[in-house]
Amino acid sequence: MKQKNYLIIGGTGGIGQAMVQALLQRQHLANEQSDTDTAHTKIYATYHKSQPDFAADHLYWISMDVSDEDSIEQAIADIKQQTTHIDWVINCVGLLHTPHNQPEKALRQLETGFFLQSMQINALASLLIAKHIKPLLAKSERSADNPAIFATISARVGSISDNRLGGWYSYRISKAALNMGMKNLSIEWRRSLKDVCVVVMQPGTVDTQLSSPFQSNVADEKLFTPAYSAARLLAVLDSMSAAQSGGFVDWAGESIPW
Ligand SMILES: NC(=O)c1ccc[n+]([C@@H]2O[C@H](COP(=O)([O-])OP(=O)(O)OC[C@H]3O[C@@H](n4cnc5c(N)ncnc54)[C@H](OP(=O)(O)O)[C@@H]3O)[C@@H](O)[C@H]2O)c1
Repeated sequence: MKQKNYLIIGGTGGIGQAMVQALLQRQHLANEQSDTDTAHTKIYATYHKSQPDFAADHLYWISMDVSDEDSIEQAIADIKQQTTHIDWVINCVGLLHTPHNQPEKALRQLETGFFLQSMQINALASLLIAKHIKPLLAKSERSADNPAIFATISARVGSISDNRLGGWYSYRISKAALNMGMKNLSIEWRRSLKDVCVVVMQPGTVDTQLSSPFQSNVADEKLFTPAYSAARLLAVLDSMSAAQSGGFVDWAGESIPW
């Protein structure tokens, strides 16, 4: 396998941390098999509130608050000091609830501050990251069959046609807006940044702090561990071609209707 440089945004979250672990595991296996290309993989991972204690060879922690464009720009400038290119970007940051706000059950619970915070973190962030990372993605060695990746973890509840239950205004709307933003980006980059696959993904229902208040109705076999979800999402990304840019897919690689 060719050496790749990865950027995991939100490397301390449930799914993000599992992504980092899965990529380190690949590197470990490559070392054992003397696959020198994969063994030289570099993983850049961002943290928000505090840098984790966790360290490993070829893993570089960078501070990034995705609700602040200056912080995004600074983090990417720091990465530019360390490498010429990034091959894969996976944004695993997301917001469903805070200590002060739960997802809305009814419109009367809608609050401007929480709605705008959800839009900023779930929808706007990937666009700002794309804006600043473009020069590093442009330098990746890639082809139509082996494209660079710009993936964001979205959510099935961001699908407008799949919406049967209602509720969760801020989360649903911000994920739908994210999906539109990434579709738009895929069209622009098809012209200006060839052979990059822009994709939004549904990770399944995953056992993390984000989903923990909402797991009671989920059957055990439908509640994924972060490690399982991350492994499935990475396998889907491994199989992507540039022609699949602009897609909304789940952890099994199945397309989700917009
Ligand atoms: N878990 C599920 O069942 C499920 C289902 C569908 C979709 N998803 C999506 O999957 C993605 C990952 O979710 P998860 O379950 O892994 O959630 P999680 O464990 O809560 O992780 C979310 C991450 O986002 C980070 N974050 C929040 N605000 C940030 C900010 N302003 N700047 C930078 N980072 C920030 C958090 O870091 P701090 O704690 O340091 O702020 C945390 O690392 C999200 O987009 C979520 O919507 C999850």
